[in-house]
Amino acid sequence: EDEAFLAAFQERIDAEQKIEPNDPMPEGYRKTLIRQISQHAHSEIIGMQPEGNWITRAPSLRRKAALLAKIQDEGGHGLYLYSAAETLGVSREEMTEQLLSGAAKYSSIFNYPALTWADIGAIGWLVDGAAIMNQIALCRCSYGPYARAMIRICKEESFHQRQGYEILITLCNGSDEQKEMAQDALNRFWWPSLMMFGPSEGESVHSQQSMLWKIKRFSNDDLRDKFINATVPQAEFLGLKVPDPELKWDEKKQGYDHGDIDWDEFWRVVKGDGPCNRERMRTRRKVEREGAWVREAALAYAEKRAAREAA
Ligand code: ACO
Repeated sequence: EDEAFLAAFQERIDAEQKIEPNDPMPEGYRKTLIRQISQHAHSEIIGMQPEGNWITRAPSLRRKAALLAKIQDEGGHGLYLYSAAETLGVSREEMTEQLLSGAAKYSSIFNYPALTWADIGAIGWLVDGAAIMNQIALCRCSYGPYARAMIRICKEESFHQRQGYEILITLCNGSDEQKEMAQDALNRFWWPSLMMFGPSEGESVHSQQSMLWKIKRFSNDDLRDKFINATVPQAEFLGLKVPDPELKWDEKKQGYDHGDIDWDEFWRVVKGDGPCNRERMRTRRKVEREGAWVREAALAYAEKRAAREAA
């Protein structure tokens, strides 16, 4: 790739032109997007597991219907994102293989268990809340298909966030035990939710180039801070305490200072040693095996139809 090509590409990016699938693009740009979009897709698919475990235990028909719809949305987001990645020249099969072999990452957050019904509330409120904060910025990503996919996904994520927060409002207005359950869920999900935004400045190896290419619009730390500033008042409204003794409002910067994030825990989970990594992968591989006959049958049917139409 010569310098003139790279400079012309950067000029298009700086002029806020969207890059589309058939446009020439630097190999690094293509690779970065395939990495990020496929990891994002894997996160949606693996993210169905912690909540899926609660479908049969949802406390009412209404809660069950909402939870089912939300989990189905996540499957849809995964398919959307795999399709966006395919426009960059990688196949769905390849991406699935990378997930199953452990070569591709998915979000650290989905390696934590959903132990109580309050966790379903906390996942909607915090995990989907963090996802929205990150994804609103991605609606302006320079790659057209990814940016457009994000618009619809963000709309659905806001419904997910509200559904989670509403569960917690109900619990926090309930018995002492229910309120305690909500506080316990916040205690366990707060820090892992902050970790979702990725490592801090110095450790975020891709950020600088991704921001230059306008794939990312904000640094991991900036989005994390925005999330904290938006979420702390929501915790206060619930009457819950954020489990960070160092959390403090800074009048000058009009934002919160927070305590240190346990990055050792983050990297441990990313590298496969979180509370549920093995279980998540085991389940995903089992589903892949058990669904093989469906894919084979669909393929055989499509081939038969194509042969009939050709005859
Ligand atoms: N979980 C797992 N891995 C992570 C996480 C995380 N929370 N955050 C960062 N990493 C990984 C990166 O993937 C990268 O590893 P790689 O080089 O093997 O791909 C490494 O840590 C270094 O991080 P960065 O240089 O900061 O990586 P990047 O620029 O890709 O930023 C981020 C990470 C912010 C997650 C970005 O990829 C992104 O915005 N992705 C799209 C959103 C997304 O995937 N959301 C998933 C959860 S939300 C949901 O599914 C509901």
